[in-house]
Amino acid sequence: MQVRVIAEAPWSVRTDVLVIPVVGEPAWDGPIGELDRRAGGEIRTLLAFGELADKRYSTAMGAPGEIAAGRILLVRAGEPGSVDRETVVHVAATAIRRLAGRRADDLAIWIDPLGEALGGELDVVAGLVARGVVEGGYDPSTIYREDVSAAPPALSSLSLVMAPGADAAAATRAAERGQVIGDGANLARTLANRSANDVSPEVLAEEAWSLAEKRDLWIDVIGPERATELGMGMFMAVGRGSDNPPRMIVMRSGAEAQPDGLGRHLALVGKGVCFDSGGISIKPSDRMEEMKMDKAGACTVIAAIATVARLAPGTPLLAVAPAVENMPGPHSTRPGDVVRALNGKRVDIIDTDAEGRLILGDAMTYAERLGATHLVDVATLTGAVSRALGDLVTGAFGAPQPWYDEVMAAGAAAGERYWQLPLIDEYGADMESWTGDIVNFSRNREGGLVKSALFLREFVTKPWVHLDIAGTGYYRRAKPFLARGATGAAHATLVELALAGAAGA
Ligand code: BES
Ligand code: MN
Ligand code: ZN
Repeated sequence: MQVRVIAEAPWSVRTDVLVIPVVGEPAWDGPIGELDRRAGGEIRTLLAFGELADKRYSTAMGAPGEIAAGRILLVRAGEPGSVDRETVVHVAATAIRRLAGRRADDLAIWIDPLGEALGGELDVVAGLVARGVVEGGYDPSTIYREDVSAAPPALSSLSLVMAPGADAAAATRAAERGQVIGDGANLARTLANRSANDVSPEVLAEEAWSLAEKRDLWIDVIGPERATELGMGMFMAVGRGSDNPPRMIVMRSGAEAQPDGLGRHLALVGKGVCFDSGGISIKPSDRMEEMKMDKAGACTVIAAIATVARLAPGTPLLAVAPAVENMPGPHSTRPGDVVRALNGKRVDIIDTDAEGRLILGDAMTYAERLGATHLVDVATLTGAVSRALGDLVTGAFGAPQPWYDEVMAAGAAAGERYWQLPLIDEYGADMESWTGDIVNFSRNREGGLVKSALFLREFVTKPWVHLDIAGTGYYRRAKPFLARGATGAAHATLVELALAGAAGA
């Protein structure tokens, strides 16, 4: 898809479909009024007729009169004060999804109304819109099938239309960047959406390997023998139960031992459970098929480091993705088994379904051994977070607070939503073990979400943020702006976070 920035009046843009974001009650004495008049009053007709519902991301298509576009597509963006970066991404994504099954080849989006609602940063808007079109255009039903007719059209070009005089060069650069970030998110989504009989830990490692070759990244894949030798007892405790052997995937960009522009050695750590049956503490079969998505965090960090390598090659960054399959079997860890973590702690595994924290703990210790000074982990860690926050807001923990705030600044730049949850020290008392240093699960389930983060904290000594994407990492039903399945949650945040430390950024 070719992205072009056009500094022209929207009515003169020749395109299959012109997207018109509707912010609040349009100011008819402004440019939208002029556009409406030239379009034969079509915009006002659609609104007056109630064709465009009041809800955000409602859409209405119309055939305009004399303007150069073949069709217009109105998309509700919400009230002026409520439009944020996430809204901008979603408006663009909604537009392309609305065209599913249609034969559009070129799409033009009038970005001025979004720029105005966001406070005038048109280049930022161009980046978010380009990303939104890429992410909204993604359809997972094409992963295993060719005969998909209801997918969003594959555009040959996208035009971003803004008033003459605006900085088209800056917007073009931002749009290209946004497109690359969208591609990265879609890569993470495809990896996560692919089923467990397709993507084993070995296959995930192979995918990471070919990405590393393509983007000129250093990569090391640690198999069971070396993991055991290194002392990754928690990682192996989960990985040993499956016929598909575990892989600790370690990727690096930039030179070893070189900090980034902010003096950080940033490490992204992602949970890569290719399938989570629960292990011996087996899950009920209801919705167990969703547990192929339990590798979403790993897919996100693998894609994020590749995206950063495309946008700012050489930026120092580490990605660690422990990949396992959590299965019951004759080699599986039994509840009550005590294992030695890489950092030396004795861990009493009383529930084999609390496996994410085990593999992440060793992965974070390993990241620190490789020199990480700042860590962010991404994981589909707890059902509790999706009960608490649903699928639109990621639960986040972190300490110390300035590091948490830095990660959240990247989240805000990316237009992704987070809600901070507290690390309540006292609840750690419920995690004491009579035979080891700590249990991996508290029988007292109250505050289980907090305890999952407290467990992880035992395996980091550096500034750290934990993002629980169990709710946001995949959608059980399609949204107006995104297909069902993996969402790529946190990908854009991690890319912004890493790029903040890129040279010349
Ligand atoms: N992968 C699951 C968490 C999960 C649940 C992700 C639902 C997405 C949707 C995780 O490994 C798990 O099993 N968590 C348990 C934790 C418990 C055993 C402490 C849970 O949430 O019930
Ligand atoms: Mn589990
Ligand atoms: Zn899991």
